[in-house]
Amino acid sequence: MYRIIDGKKTAEQVLNKIAVEVKELKDNSKDIALAVIIVGDNPASRVYVNNKKKDCALVGIESYEYALPADTSQEELLALIDELNQRKDINGILCQLPLPGHFDEKAVLNAISPQKDVDAFHPVNVGHIMIGDCLLLPCTPAGVMELLKAYDIPIAGRHCVIIGRSNIVGKPMAMLMLKENATVTVCHSKTVDLAGITRQADILIAAVGQAKMIKADMVKEGAVVIDVGMNRDENSKLCGDVDFDGVAPKTSAITPVPGGVGPMTRAMLLANTLTAAKVQFGE
Ligand code: GUN
Repeated sequence: MYRIIDGKKTAEQVLNKIAVEVKELKDNSKDIALAVIIVGDNPASRVYVNNKKKDCALVGIESYEYALPADTSQEELLALIDELNQRKDINGILCQLPLPGHFDEKAVLNAISPQKDVDAFHPVNVGHIMIGDCLLLPCTPAGVMELLKAYDIPIAGRHCVIIGRSNIVGKPMAMLMLKENATVTVCHSKTVDLAGITRQADILIAAVGQAKMIKADMVKEGAVVIDVGMNRDENSKLCGDVDFDGVAPKTSAITPVPGGVGPMTRAMLLANTLTAAKVQFGE
């Protein structure tokens, strides 16, 4: 029988712990605030930003939204980031992606102070992840690690196969698993014999963005399967990269979609905001 890794429940536990720490800091007159920048009117971005604000309120972190029109210039956005970098009352800064096409996204992300970079997208923080001494972690990979920890899933010495090599998930995921002494293989769109490799995985992490592409014949009996995907199936129903119904019976543990990695990604943003604030407070 396999275990369903409950991301919603685990995220609630993480949020409860964060709320306790936030309250303790508040009681010492140390308020925490996250600035969330959204440019234009991308409906998905609006939902994400609203969720982030709701999550902040849940744990007692103040959130300030900066909603800028789609025709905002790069210079105007950089000026806002510069102001937020300097402000002592702002502990974390997040610029919701994607930005409208005329922006140089990389330059915008690089402008956020690494100490306030709660997405951990800045090259300085990416470098820290590579070295293994990071404080701020990219939210999705950090959420996956927390889930594995919460379910006492051993990592050291096990073969972790990651499908997907994005800067946000696949690459940092590989670094975090390496730090925990996994043997790591990263697969991608040019990988030859993908199923032959995924069948070797003790821990299989799918971050591809293709609905239900991981089928039962790609999974080893007893493997742990982590599904980072968030897609719509042929009936417009939310689903992951893993064909859950086919794959689950072969696994020892598996994350569902929704209710798996997603809530953990949201929780880790608040964990990063708390971490950033504590460093700034000298805690
Ligand atoms: N757009 C979609 N996911 C994310 C995220 O994790 N961070 C930011 N800044 N933008 C996003």
